[in-house]
Amino acid sequence: MNMKFKATLLGLSIAAVLPTMNMAQTPVYLDTSKPIEERVKDALSRMTLEEKVKMTHAQSKFSSPGVPRLGIPEVWATDGPHGIRPEVLWDEWDQAGWTNDSCIAYPALTCLSATWNPEMSYLYGKSIGEEARYRKKDILLGPGVNIYRTPLNGRNFEYMGEDPYLSSMMVVPYIKGVQENGVAACVKHYALNNQEFNRHTTNVHLSDRALYEIYLPAFKAAVQEGGAWAIMGAYNLYSFSEDTDSGKLYKTQHACHNKRLLQDILRKEWGFDGVVVSDWGGVHDTFQAISNGLDMEFGSWTNGLSAGTRNAYDNYYLAHPYLKLIQDGTVGTKELDEKVSNILRLIFRTSMNPHKPFGSLASPEHGQAGRKIGEEGIVLLQNKDNVLPIDLKKARKIAVIGENAIKMMTVGGGSSSLKVKYEISPLDGLKNRVGSQAEVLYVRGYVGDPTGEYNGVQTGQDLKDDRSEDELLAEAVEVSKDADYVIFFGGLNKSNHQDCEDSDRASLGLPYAQDRVIGELAKVNKNLIVVNISGNAVAMPWVNEVPAIVQGWFLGSEAGTALASVLLGDANPSGKLPFTFPARLEDVGAHKLGEYPGNKEELAHSKNNGDTINEIYREDIFVGYRWADKEKIKPLFPFGHGLSYTTFAYGKPSADKKVMTADDTISFTINVKNTGTREGQEVIQLYVSDKKSSLPRPVKELKGFKKVKLAPGEEKAVTLTIDKKALSFFDDVKHEWMTEPGKFEAVIGTSSRDIKGIVPFELR
Ligand code: BGC
Repeated sequence: MNMKFKATLLGLSIAAVLPTMNMAQTPVYLDTSKPIEERVKDALSRMTLEEKVKMTHAQSKFSSPGVPRLGIPEVWATDGPHGIRPEVLWDEWDQAGWTNDSCIAYPALTCLSATWNPEMSYLYGKSIGEEARYRKKDILLGPGVNIYRTPLNGRNFEYMGEDPYLSSMMVVPYIKGVQENGVAACVKHYALNNQEFNRHTTNVHLSDRALYEIYLPAFKAAVQEGGAWAIMGAYNLYSFSEDTDSGKLYKTQHACHNKRLLQDILRKEWGFDGVVVSDWGGVHDTFQAISNGLDMEFGSWTNGLSAGTRNAYDNYYLAHPYLKLIQDGTVGTKELDEKVSNILRLIFRTSMNPHKPFGSLASPEHGQAGRKIGEEGIVLLQNKDNVLPIDLKKARKIAVIGENAIKMMTVGGGSSSLKVKYEISPLDGLKNRVGSQAEVLYVRGYVGDPTGEYNGVQTGQDLKDDRSEDELLAEAVEVSKDADYVIFFGGLNKSNHQDCEDSDRASLGLPYAQDRVIGELAKVNKNLIVVNISGNAVAMPWVNEVPAIVQGWFLGSEAGTALASVLLGDANPSGKLPFTFPARLEDVGAHKLGEYPGNKEELAHSKNNGDTINEIYREDIFVGYRWADKEKIKPLFPFGHGLSYTTFAYGKPSADKKVMTADDTISFTINVKNTGTREGQEVIQLYVSDKKSSLPRPVKELKGFKKVKLAPGEEKAVTLTIDKKALSFFDDVKHEWMTEPGKFEAVIGTSSRDIKGIVPFELR
């Protein structure tokens, strides 16, 4: 019997038997029974110099060449990180006009992080990975883990908040979920891309302590625990000093070809064996790109988003200029072989992995995953007099006010913009849920940005309204007077200078006339609920006038359904803030001390011609709650905060020992009881406080958390275990993590400010 047929009969995959069948003829690189490293070596040995150089740079906006002669496929990348980007033309940002590339938009990463639930993160990665695989993409350009340093950063919505531990815990399952689909997660933007203003020219200076303790841990976890197959260099520059034979050398290099970040830390310290992809247009120097660890160059001579020089691919820094340097003997081929080996490894892990699944696109399960993540990430910030959840038994009329109740939020914001199969607006979500049980009346209240287009994807909404601010306000007040509930949906949107790539926000305040509208609505209706749709903290001058405030994020396709579930109480909110809401901008370290958005004098003299602008992170390790704690500032809403519709009671926390040694662990246990009448989830947060150390340390740092589900009346003992890693700090002189014996405290709370108990312990 024919071997192949026999194999199928036995239920074996053809790919699995191919190698044994054709042992003599099958080249090693195609033999999937062979270890990847052997296949990489073999493929490399068969390639010409030209073929190798070609693989290191793009051939179109989102792809790079394979080796057609050897049957090695092209590499196809897609944004990321909230859904699969629609297909663009070969060499243009415009839509390719496909009709089969609409996706599910998942909640923005700030919302995912706000679930404080790694299971949600895995669900997210698995679902988006399936969509990427179905669309035949090999690299998903995400997730993003740049630390939330300032609430003005236009791209915070694409990241996982201000805390290195929380982002690390949340990024790992996302990557695993994606990569199980044979799609590489490309973690971005490595590193120090903490603002959009001057993103190509800002040169970051910071201590190694801040680098290692705050800005790198999530990337490190992505690489070492998540096993990420790709990482994206950032646009900004980073300055570092290096010991050389001729003494200390000070170097300033773009992050996409920064020796310290890529060679010293990523490759040597962390052992990364994946591909370093440049950000689109982030490469500026052939020599640095050759020798400092970049593998693939994308988007040169584009601004990364819209403009671009046509068909410049042969002129890329790693294209003809590289080939020429090798041909004339200026540089050797060692680095080239390393780059191509990394790329081949990625190809064998993705497109040439015969065991990868087939994926699925915009399935009902994906919609439900988005909804579930959204419901778990929505944060109930304030709920005076238990205004929420809305009680339909008491409601005849619900007034809905605000542009964000109807505006599509999946289009815009930069490279994460999507073409969705559907997007349920907050207003539609509410109407669907309320049905005929009450009247839901909508009026606009204010006009923000009525436009809705990105790279040819149109929302198709006509949001123009020429009435004056006063007229719109008067109408909103009128409708709200006799309503049983008023829900204001406002916040930011995805337009420039809001939650949007390539620009930062101008201020912490809400744009348009929203503060005025909210203030007036609060005067006429005591059941006012404000839902803030944003990926960033906003100022809330009306916080004492408004009983109920909800952080509604950008929730994607199922936005309206998820919000309605929470507002009506079908889902009990359990999200916790992944970043601090400061009361004022001056309450943020980067604004009080740091040089944001760059050295003032240099900014004043810069003619916006690409001059480098230096920026010192003077607040150092004191980012987010670490700053607020140190300065004893009361935030508007603290890191880790989020309420529930049920109530919880907490026991006195205890430890399994009083003294631990460096190779020991220590466990803390606290009892949590649901004392209300409905099921709910609570997040127990463990912060560690070092009582005495040779270097200044934050008052406390998050080192553990657990989300628990409790039925009414149910009580659970929650145990969190740490080891000496949780007690250590980075000593930049010794260049190592240090743990100093002495006294510590485990600070256990349900936010960084709502502390339920403190357990002292000692490290010996
Ligand atoms: C962004 C990246 C994105 C890339 C490709 C750049 O402008 O910074 O995050 O993945 O474009 O769209």
